[in-house]
Amino acid sequence: MNPLLAAGNYAALVAEMTAEEKADLLTGHRMWRTGAVERMDIPAVVMTDGTYGVRYSIPQIDGDVRPGQDFESFLQVVGRKANEVEATWGEMRPATCFPNGSSLACSWDVDLARAMGEALGAECREYGVNILLGPGINIRRTPLGGRSYEYFSEDPILTGDLAAGMIEGIQSRGVGTSLKHFACNNSEVERTSMDSIVDMRALREIYFLGFERAIAKAEPWTVMSSYNRLNGVQAAEDSWLLTQVLRGEWGFAGLVMSDWHGIKDRSASMVAGNDLDMPETETRKADLLAAIRDGTLPAAVVDLACQRVLALVRRCLLALEVPSAPVDWDAHHRLARQIAAESIVLLKNEDAILPIPTTGRRRILVVGACAVEPVIQGSGCATTTPTRTDIPLDEIRALAGTDTVVDYQPGYAMDAEGFNPALAQAAVAAADDADHVLLFVNAAVGWDGEGSDRRSLALSPGHDELVQMLAAAYPRLTVIIASPDAVVMPWIDRAPAVVETFFSGQATGGAIADILFGRANPSGKLTTSFPMTLESVPGHLHYPGENGRHHYSEGLFVGYRSYDSRGDSLLFPFGHGLSYTRFAYADLRIDQEEIWPGDDLTLSFDVSNVGARAGKEVCQVYLRYGTPRLRRPVHELKGFQKVALEPGETRRVSIAIAARDLCYFDPDRAEWMIDDDLLTVEVGASSRDIRLEAPVRSVSPMGRYRRIDWDTQPTFVLDNPIARAGFRAFLSERTGASGEDADRMLEHCRNSFFGILTTLANRLRQTITPTEIQPVLDSINRQVRDAEQAELERHRAEVATRAA
Ligand code: BGC
Repeated sequence: MNPLLAAGNYAALVAEMTAEEKADLLTGHRMWRTGAVERMDIPAVVMTDGTYGVRYSIPQIDGDVRPGQDFESFLQVVGRKANEVEATWGEMRPATCFPNGSSLACSWDVDLARAMGEALGAECREYGVNILLGPGINIRRTPLGGRSYEYFSEDPILTGDLAAGMIEGIQSRGVGTSLKHFACNNSEVERTSMDSIVDMRALREIYFLGFERAIAKAEPWTVMSSYNRLNGVQAAEDSWLLTQVLRGEWGFAGLVMSDWHGIKDRSASMVAGNDLDMPETETRKADLLAAIRDGTLPAAVVDLACQRVLALVRRCLLALEVPSAPVDWDAHHRLARQIAAESIVLLKNEDAILPIPTTGRRRILVVGACAVEPVIQGSGCATTTPTRTDIPLDEIRALAGTDTVVDYQPGYAMDAEGFNPALAQAAVAAADDADHVLLFVNAAVGWDGEGSDRRSLALSPGHDELVQMLAAAYPRLTVIIASPDAVVMPWIDRAPAVVETFFSGQATGGAIADILFGRANPSGKLTTSFPMTLESVPGHLHYPGENGRHHYSEGLFVGYRSYDSRGDSLLFPFGHGLSYTRFAYADLRIDQEEIWPGDDLTLSFDVSNVGARAGKEVCQVYLRYGTPRLRRPVHELKGFQKVALEPGETRRVSIAIAARDLCYFDPDRAEWMIDDDLLTVEVGASSRDIRLEAPVRSVSPMGRYRRIDWDTQPTFVLDNPIARAGFRAFLSERTGASGEDADRMLEHCRNSFFGILTTLANRLRQTITPTEIQPVLDSINRQVRDAEQAELERHRAEVATRAA
């Protein structure tokens, strides 16, 4: 390594570089490397996808596929099923296919996400990969989203915490991450040009929050800008997004890279703070070089971006000093099985038909081709070539017990579209004298994935009909679903047991068997709501946008924030998931009765396992608002903890909510705020199963009075003592009236719905221009802010005195 690089003296290095070398460094090399500068002994670093498994294309990474050629194969991969990727990208090195994002997230277990990250990091090290291009954490605002299977949740707190765990895990192994796709790439429709039109509160409170949280907690080495436009600006070229918010407000100190071919105007992206353009393209590189040479791009901008690439390269090289043992692939497979088992969600279990006993003679009928060809992952760029795949049917046979007969019927053909009457009929006939029928179904694979959203929330064509038929013929049916996100279940009332696996990786088969036979007690809970119909999804009426613009018309009210605020019926609510044991909650306590701006909140409660099996409960904390100043969802998730309990065991759970998490973003003040309000802390087993609640008062002098303008309605002036005094003094001076008379004049304006100046002019013949009043308004607004601050400081001083 160059000694200046080793010493971190990036400025000196950049000063020695030619324009060509700078363009090389800022453009990357081929598909998966940064550009090396051999003359200066600056090596390249290697990056690859993805979010739940390492995808290593041998020809693309070890070979030297030229730009252009790779563009073609890159295009072809999108929309491809995982097992077809090799056809276009050449031989892959096998790697563990862990549960995909939407599956892993149902574990609600940050430690498990960290463990998965450590394993991913170790596999990267094994293959010489310096940066893994993940995790992808866009909010799942519609279950149609093609990349839902990669992403964690409809909730940003859960998303941010899981992402932080995963980033910490990967980076602890000396491998960098790329938190993606920043921001608002929530649909695959016209993915590189669609303009996501999102209001400021929704941006801050929903779409940015997961990124902000993960960055604050885990400092990913890089962030990847997204393909779409955001409020009119291409995300990779958006200075407000990439410089003002990401670096300025959040203090992100790492590198920003583009999504693959996501930059349209290279110079604009440089100025905006998108340092690295991936992958290498001759045209964009030539544009960059020309702009560096002719000075259209300021040298300072170019040099700063070069420094950031160099810092990343140095970080990658130094990280290699973190020791890494050879990968134990069997151990990683076992970990994949454990994570899958912790993530599978038992949605319904009437009459406790699950778990299936493993003693005694019985006959189990397994139906469904995907019990033999399991759907373990979605499609597109994120896919992995698994080291091996557990076959559910085999794993069921292995655990069923020696006296049990396990029969199999395909029920449908895996790749054929539509209902197959002959196969369905054979399955129904075989179900006749079975003790248990386990039906494996899935949502359409291949279409749903990168590059294309799903077209409906139905299962694969023909699968719903098969469930209906079997459910009608056989009362003790268990339906096992593999899907990227929510599906609708027109047959739900007739199926007594339903298990949702999402796409849970190469060990899905073993994990399902563990759950079905009770070797693992289900503990996964949904991280998105399952709606009754597609049409009831918030924002659906504006999906997928028109004329290139997609209005996020539901604003803040994404997922349960809408369903719970409206009281809509749901198939299954956010946070729902059953266990083979039961949990009881008691004795909620909050460490303070009152919170002020800047105060954290800590609560504690007991949770007990009151059933007969060891199990884990995901305890969820929501905050319900009383009469907020700006509209808020009825309640929002603020914290969670997964607790392992032996039968009869009770634990005291303590959860801290950071001051910032109690706030909403006021776009007018551009500030995070709390209100004067009576809040309710709710503790529960899902967003619709609240078991405990306790009040807490929030007190805030901030924002009690609105900003006063020349056209503010008189009533708001009158109710604000500072504004009232300001106007009174102004009127009195101008008209010579006494203070009391001036005040009476103002009071006389109270019932007017016109602005204060219009009312004074028309009712009292006091014609005042906006320019004349402006100094008064400025002074009022300043005094109001000062008074707020003073009250807050007085309170803090009192608290300090009391504590001393
Ligand atoms: C995807 C990214 C991925 C990149 C490289 C893009 O199409 O959006 O998530 O990291 O390709 O494969």
